[in-house]
Amino acid sequence: MALKARIIGTGSYLPERVLSNSDLEKIVETTDEWIVTRTGMKERRIARSDEFSSDMGIHASRAAISDAGLSVDDIDFILVATTTPDYLFPSTACLIQHGLGAQHAGAVDLLAACTGYLYALSVAKAFVEAGMYRNVLVVAAEKLSAITNYKDRSTCVLFGDGAGACVVSSAGKGLAISNIRLGSDGEQAQFVIMPAGGCRMPASVDTVQNDQHFIRMAGSETFKHAVRRMESACKGCLEDAGLAESDISWLIPHQANLRIIEAIAKRFEHLPPERIYKTIHKYGNTSSSTIGIALDELLKQSQVKNGEHILLTAFGSGFTWGAALLTAGDGL
Ligand code: ACO
Repeated sequence: MALKARIIGTGSYLPERVLSNSDLEKIVETTDEWIVTRTGMKERRIARSDEFSSDMGIHASRAAISDAGLSVDDIDFILVATTTPDYLFPSTACLIQHGLGAQHAGAVDLLAACTGYLYALSVAKAFVEAGMYRNVLVVAAEKLSAITNYKDRSTCVLFGDGAGACVVSSAGKGLAISNIRLGSDGEQAQFVIMPAGGCRMPASVDTVQNDQHFIRMAGSETFKHAVRRMESACKGCLEDAGLAESDISWLIPHQANLRIIEAIAKRFEHLPPERIYKTIHKYGNTSSSTIGIALDELLKQSQVKNGEHILLTAFGSGFTWGAALLTAGDGL
């Protein structure tokens, strides 16, 4: 019988410290009113100075493994989606493997910015359905506050820290990963970028003085691409599955801007607002982590019923984008 990949457990972690819009008003020239009306964000979480992407990933992973009813020894492979690895190398996946004590697991990082969770999910699905691994741990972990320029009001209000994780397995009950559509276009690589720190522009006094180790984003250009690409990814993913928008019970879009979420939601007019799952008001944009965190919250609220379809969609630097269709099975 063909193997079917399922998400059998989820977990998430948010740091304790809250950075509110009124806190930001004291740091840069902005207002709560501008941030709320332009982005939908009210607050975001910021990791401690001694808390890193690997630490947040470990917390989320432990929760996901326990939710799956597994022990860490059952994990065969660890895939970590992150734009903010602890180091360029070694990988954050290896740090998480060590922190968890996952003795039998291979581990690797994967970089697809805000689309990272969906890219990692697709690799996990392929590993599991090929019969190569039984249990793959997917982790998205971000400490965006470490690469955010708190002198730049156009970006510093947007980002927060956090992690989401899930266990993808060929055995057990949960959410079947039915279809995934992914895309990329490196022609737009410059729109959302951290210019320095790679081999093209190694760290120097100049790169530090010129703030080139921080996220730079062309906001309004990125906005237009985000809406168009997520819409087409959702359409393509549903076409592949032979479903219509009206078959979807829950939509979890990447949490970059409430106006982007509302533009995509127009395609899903049958869904009441509470079925378009949002965390943006409380966590802001945590890049690859947004979908993992939102999915964990939604499932923990026990609102998803057997047979329901959940559509995930994301867009990020690269550009990268994608959509994934999950179907709730017996015993969720
Ligand atoms: N407070 C007050 N005013 C501000 C602020 C702020 N925090 N930031 C910008 N402004 C001002 C600008 O200076 C500009 O003023 P001007 O007209 O006098 O020049 C004005 O507000 C409008 O600026 P825009 O950039 O045009 O504002 P916009 O409505 O586009 O909103 C935003 C900006 C929120 C960044 C939006 O463009 C956006 O969400 N873009 C998409 C983000 C996204 O999808 N990211 C995903 C990838 S991220 C990743 O991969 C890590």
